[in-house]
Amino acid sequence: MDNSFYELGMVGLGVMGRNLVLNFADHGFPVAGFDKDTTKVSALNSEGEGKKVKGVNSLNEFISILKKPRVIMMLVPAGAPVDSVINDVLPFLEPGDLIIDGGNSHFTDTNKRFIELGNKKIHFLGIGISGGEHGARFGPSMMPGGPAEAYERVHPIFEAASAKVKGSNCVEYLGPGSAGHYVKMVHNGIEYGLMQLISESYDLLKRGLNLSNDELHKIYQSWNEAELQSFLIEITANIFMQPDDKKSGMLIDKILDKAKQKGTGKWTSQDAMNLQVPLNTIDAAVAMRDMSAYKPERENAAKIFSKTSFSLSGHKNDFITRLRGALYFSMITTYAQGMAMLLSASKEYDYNLKLQDVARIWRGGCIIRAALLEEITKAFDKSPGLSNLLIDPGISTEIKKRSNDIRFITKAAIDLEIPVPAFSASLAYFDSYKSAWLPANLVQAQRDLFGAHTYERVDEVGVYHTQWNQK
Ligand code: 6PG
Repeated sequence: MDNSFYELGMVGLGVMGRNLVLNFADHGFPVAGFDKDTTKVSALNSEGEGKKVKGVNSLNEFISILKKPRVIMMLVPAGAPVDSVINDVLPFLEPGDLIIDGGNSHFTDTNKRFIELGNKKIHFLGIGISGGEHGARFGPSMMPGGPAEAYERVHPIFEAASAKVKGSNCVEYLGPGSAGHYVKMVHNGIEYGLMQLISESYDLLKRGLNLSNDELHKIYQSWNEAELQSFLIEITANIFMQPDDKKSGMLIDKILDKAKQKGTGKWTSQDAMNLQVPLNTIDAAVAMRDMSAYKPERENAAKIFSKTSFSLSGHKNDFITRLRGALYFSMITTYAQGMAMLLSASKEYDYNLKLQDVARIWRGGCIIRAALLEEITKAFDKSPGLSNLLIDPGISTEIKKRSNDIRFITKAAIDLEIPVPAFSASLAYFDSYKSAWLPANLVQAQRDLFGAHTYERVDEVGVYHTQWNQK
């Protein structure tokens, strides 16, 4: 192959990187790949046979076969590996070359890299990519952020490779600096919330109603045919049908109840706290991943606090219908929290995000894709500065229809002693958001009493301090 032939070079040929290279090549873009691991390089060369793809394990060769100005993308784990790739390639680069970080980098790291690379006249883009291995290969959702001119250079490649929904690409330039990585972080926070909610619904069906895996499969499958239709419900339905590949029985019953995490959900909660945006459901989901890790302690406590036996009264089918309503209600509140966080972050960090575009590119390819995102896109198309999704007329109608369901399910869960922190946090978020009065006046009074922190009054403007009478 000619020198300087490849339009993009990919560093990191793990499954995600490899699949994205093959996806780009399928759309007619010649792509070179580099990895220090020769087995990954060989895997790319054999999977890419007949395509405009070349895997190499010499950095010198890799750089020499890229078209100038060069475009180097990396798909490596967040943190130190990203800096290490940047340091490795930098000596070979020239002003005007472009580096793209396609991983789940923390947005503050992305901000730092913009400054460092900008000083060297190297362009940089932070692109959040969602959709797992399958998405990378056949159409992910991609969230680009950085200088608009830099994205202009590469947008045909990303548009061609992205998922498509109703003829529109699931990739759109989102904003300057770390906008893309920030949006991807919040995507993952929503992902955590939805996964926890679905797990709680599973717990209620399994321990509350004693349903079999076969029954669970059928319920989630039928839920996936209507308003709850989403990637996560679809894969959940399929999980219950997966036989154990080692022994007899179903795999789900052999998997340890300890969930791992790479941290993006936690980052979402952490930054929401910095921005002072309430994220009740997502916070609960992060806490439950942590709680799940305390397996030996939970086993010990289970012996100390025996469970009261409470059985559900009423019809099983009625419970399942209400659970479906509660799940949709809570899914809506989870997206509402994420969107409200993006609105606030956009102001704080000058991202200038268009929430309608964010919702639009999440409709396909990504982990949180769902029929509901069609409604969310419409809501933000109609009203781009919508302060909270819950008050959109269409969405509020759906919420009102199901507020009895979420109350019913939460009460039943309390009686059953089945923990539903994400369901109850979703209800608490809704109840507090729609409460014109909250008992924060008492908090203000306490603060003023013990620390002279002052308070505001309902009937006069200004700040006040009182000498409180105390015995
Ligand atoms: C995606 C996912 C992906 C993430 C995994 C694991 O959008 O494709 O969000 O980026 O790495 O979901 O995340 P945790 O390890 O934090 O669960």
